[in-house]
Parts: sequence; structure tokens; C-alpha cells
Amino acid sequence: MTKHAVFRQTYGPWALVTGGSAGIGASFAWILAERGLNLVLVARNRERLEQKAAEIQTQHPTIQIITHALDLSLPDSITTLIHATTELEIGLVIANAAVETNGAFLRNTFDDEQRLIALNITAPAHLAHHYGQSMRDRRQGGILFVASIAAYGPLPYLANYAASKAYLLSLGEALHYEFKPYSVDVLVLSPGLTDTDMAGQSEINWSQLYAPYMDADTTALAGIRALGKKSSVIPGTTNFLVAFVRKYLLTRSLNIILFGHLLRRAIMPNRL
Ligand SMILES: NC(=O)c1ccc[n+]([C@@H]2O[C@H](COP(=O)([O-])OP(=O)(O)OC[C@H]3O[C@@H](n4cnc5c(N)ncnc54)[C@H](OP(=O)(O)O)[C@@H]3O)[C@@H](O)[C@H]2O)c1
Repeated sequence: MTKHAVFRQTYGPWALVTGGSAGIGASFAWILAERGLNLVLVARNRERLEQKAAEIQTQHPTIQIITHALDLSLPDSITTLIHATTELEIGLVIANAAVETNGAFLRNTFDDEQRLIALNITAPAHLAHHYGQSMRDRRQGGILFVASIAAYGPLPYLANYAASKAYLLSLGEALHYEFKPYSVDVLVLSPGLTDTDMAGQSEINWSQLYAPYMDADTTALAGIRALGKKSSVIPGTTNFLVAFVRKYLLTRSLNIILFGHLLRRAIMPNRL
């Protein structure tokens, strides 16, 4: 059997990708289509979502693609998605959609911070809890959480975002252990700065931090390649080194002081 056929047998026939219309999520969708999986793609903007689905369908006419235009930060959206997919055998969930709030915590509205918690924390946990059950019963499948190297320690001025990613890293690594006896693979992908809308629209001037950009395809491929092999992966050598230093060489308080200072300098003054 070819590598793609083994992948399809392990994680098919359907993969669900949140935030599949753009950035890293769209890269996941292309990679999974290439491996012959049918796709459920979710995002808010229906037009952009359907356009992405049509592009992928043209290149991969043999797979099926279903789109759901949903705001996953809204209370009942995951339940709606679950009901809409009951007939499908979802073998792979990629919990990728997220938002970033940046700047001083007290500058942001609590509604924005709460939406972040709903999308970055509650939605991935709910998806893993629901689809994990049928994967456990079938004794196969995969769940991939997209976190960030921001998960590797508190980050002033990205406080709620970094905390949400730390939650995902912890949840994913723990579930990797819990789900292993059921042959369900769980992986946390922690990208660094990646060339997408999220990074482009951020109010942090990343060039001041000398952070190199990776492209979304390379980032997503690193996740797909590590699935079933590891509990956690950081794409790119620089990103890996930054996370290593933050985790093993700096104390937690030094992390906060250093990154607090760097982010304070790099953030737009009106966000402080
Ligand atoms: N880019 C980076 O530098 C970077 C670094 C580290 C980690 N990450 C992580 O990588 C993941 C993907 O980020 P990205 O950079 O690819 O982001 P992106 O380019 O902004 O794409 C985000 C995707 O999520 C969808 N989305 C956003 N809010 C949503 C909502 N409320 N409900 C449903 N879908 C929603 C967007 O479509 P709609 O707007 O139409 O909803 C889009 O498809 C995120 O988890 C992010 O935290 C990114």
C-alpha cells in the first residue's frame, strides 16, 4: 500500500478542518485532499470558504468536500456542526481556527477576550470530546490541535492568546497519552510566526523581534508528518530553539520579563 493509502485508511474517510478557508487551515485542506481524504471545511466567511473548496475540488475531483459557514466562537455552533456531520465517519479533526487579541489586556473589550476563549479553548476541547468518542469506538483516528510557540510561557501583551495556546498544548499532550490505548493519535502543532492573514494583520511589529516567517504549507506539512509519531511538534529550527530556551533555559519569571519587554517595544503604541 502507498503511504497516502495508509494515511487514508488510518485517518479517513473524512477530515474536519476548522479555519479551512485560509492560512494554515487551507494548507491542511490541500494536503489532506492530496492524500485522498474527503473534507469538511469550516469558517465564518461563506464566500471565501466556498471559493477555497471549489479550488481544491477542481484539483482533486474524486474527493467530496462539504462546507459549513459557522462562527465557532458562538455558543451553539459546535452542536450545529456535530449535528450536520452525524452521517459522516470523521477520522481526523484539525482544530486550527483561532483568533489573537494583542495589546494591554485592559485595552481589549472583554467580549473580544471571551470570543478568543470560546474559539481557541472551548471549540477544540468540544470537538475532541465529541469526535474522540467515535474514534475510540472504531479504534482509529487522529486529532490535531494547532497551538503556537506562544504556548511555551506567559506572554504579556498577548496574555489571553498565549494562555489559550498553553491550554491546548497541555490538553493535547495529556490526550495523546489517554487516547493511545484506543489507537487514536493526538498531536499538538506549535507554529512560530507564519505568513498568513493572522500574522499580517497583527498589531505587533514582528520584524522588531527578528522572528522569521515560515510558509503555511511547510507548517501544516510538519503537523501531518508528525501525526501518529509524536505528541507535540514545533516546525522550523528557529522556532524549536526559541521554545527550547523558553522551556528549559529561562526561568518563568525571566521569560515574562524578557518577552514583556520585547513585546512592549514591538506593539503599536495605541495598543498599550
Ligand atoms: N500565523 C501565525 O503566525 C501563527 C503562529 C502561531 C500559531 N498560529 C495558529 O495557527 C492557526 C491558524 O492561524 P492562521 O495564521 O492560518 O490564521 P488565519 O490566516 O487568520 O486563518 C484563520 C482561519 O480561521 C477561520 N476563523 C477565524 N475565526 C473563526 C471563527 N470564529 N469561527 C470559524 N472559523 C474562524 C478564518 O476564516 P473566517 O475569517 O472566514 O472565519 C480562517 O479560515 C491558529 O490556531 C493560530 O493561532 C498562527
